[in-house]
Amino acid sequence: MAVNLLLGLQWGDEGKGKIVDVLTTDYDIIARFQGGPNAGHTLIFDGQKHVLHTIPSGIFRKNSINIVGNGVVIDPVIFKKELDNLEAYNIDFPNKLLISRKAHLILPTHRLLDAANEAAKGKAKIGSTLKGIGPTYMDKTGRNGMRIGDLEMDNWKEIYTALATKHLKMLSHYDSQIEFDLNELETEFFTAIDTLRELRFIDSEEYFHQAMKEGKTILAEGAQGSLLDVDFGTYPFVTSSTTTAAGACTGLGVAPNQIGEVFGIFKAYVTRVGSGPFPTELFDKNGEDMGRIGNEFGATTGRERRCGWLDLVALKYSVQINGVTQLMMMKADVLSGFENLKVCTKYNYKGKEISHFPYNVEAHNVSPIYETVPCWKEDLTGMDSSSTLPKELNDYIKYIEDFVEVPITIVSVGPDRNQTINR
Ligand code: GDP
Ligand code: IMO
Ligand code: MG
Repeated sequence: MAVNLLLGLQWGDEGKGKIVDVLTTDYDIIARFQGGPNAGHTLIFDGQKHVLHTIPSGIFRKNSINIVGNGVVIDPVIFKKELDNLEAYNIDFPNKLLISRKAHLILPTHRLLDAANEAAKGKAKIGSTLKGIGPTYMDKTGRNGMRIGDLEMDNWKEIYTALATKHLKMLSHYDSQIEFDLNELETEFFTAIDTLRELRFIDSEEYFHQAMKEGKTILAEGAQGSLLDVDFGTYPFVTSSTTTAAGACTGLGVAPNQIGEVFGIFKAYVTRVGSGPFPTELFDKNGEDMGRIGNEFGATTGRERRCGWLDLVALKYSVQINGVTQLMMMKADVLSGFENLKVCTKYNYKGKEISHFPYNVEAHNVSPIYETVPCWKEDLTGMDSSSTLPKELNDYIKYIEDFVEVPITIVSVGPDRNQTINR
């Protein structure tokens, strides 16, 4: 039995939460494998909107088990808030939501370090969500981190104190000091740890191994997107985890030959939140229209997302690194009525035309080369069958499929669970 992956192919916020929620009915287990509360995954059904940060997006469906894998970093405080927000749904958390003992904990001082680090960078800041992601992964790879499994040890508070003390020393070295009330932060943290302990901690790699032997179906839910990957993204303007397909192997403990389908999600245009290069970014009315019609505000921080034309050079790059087998195109409805669409098919890189995603895509090196294609006029939001899609949209789909050489199997025409068309 294979593990299928679902990954964002751009700079995050492609609509992963919505599609995981749609696909969950086909799976026994949904598992997050990297990232943490920097993610904001939106689900809309029955007229209600939900935003999940660390909890996998299969949590609302009756039959699925949801697992937070070892590659994820967990902030107990945010996790508790997520659980509290779901109270009305009477979800059987101890049986439906399991956490890997090897997942790392985000301490309050990790968040402070994130803030201090960003402030020190000044204009060069990453635009982090300030959830402590970078410092927590640094402690993980630096072999200093604290894990969920540590909470089962008698001396866990000593482990906590040793790490927090180290962080406080580090904080004192920054030029500009961050204001905080440690007592308040720790009270909130320890209360949240008590809530976390009500859930089951598991050796998740063993759990997946047994589940696969029993023929259970597993969907791995990515966070962020390939262009935010710590290796392959627009470094240093990236997140601190492996957001690409390989991250599912290390973040869950499944082997490469156990990966089946790789679903790649992309928006019909492109957005980015935070700093960093964005070759097809628009600063005109088209960009404004995408933002307004697409309601492009971050699900975690509320920040306005930058918008631009579809970048096929970048999309093809993401498809290649991840071995995408099926594509899902989101937010096609947002483009209805645009006069024309532009798609970037090549870059002008230091005066030369190139068709691959290079080392550095900063604006002084790279400018996009566009083809112009016609846009559809019809409102797509009420459509429910691929036979009703307008010709111009079908042509756009075919153009993308021919370029990246992978079929588009789902077209999303609105934020609701039901506004999803299979092809
Ligand atoms: P994720 O991080 O990849 O899960 O994506 P987010 O939830 O951060 O952002 C996607 C946003 O687009 C959310 O507000 C969704 O409700 C919304 N959305 C998802 N699919 C569609 C779609 O096909 N059309 C429109 N208009 N909105 C969509
Ligand atoms: P989902 O899962 C969009 C961006 C931040 C910042 C950079 C580093 O909802 O798609 P970090 O907090 O990781 O230190 O921030 O990455 N970023 C995201 N952008 N969607 C996300 O997640 C993101 N998670 C992080 O804006 O530029
Ligand atoms: Mg998001």
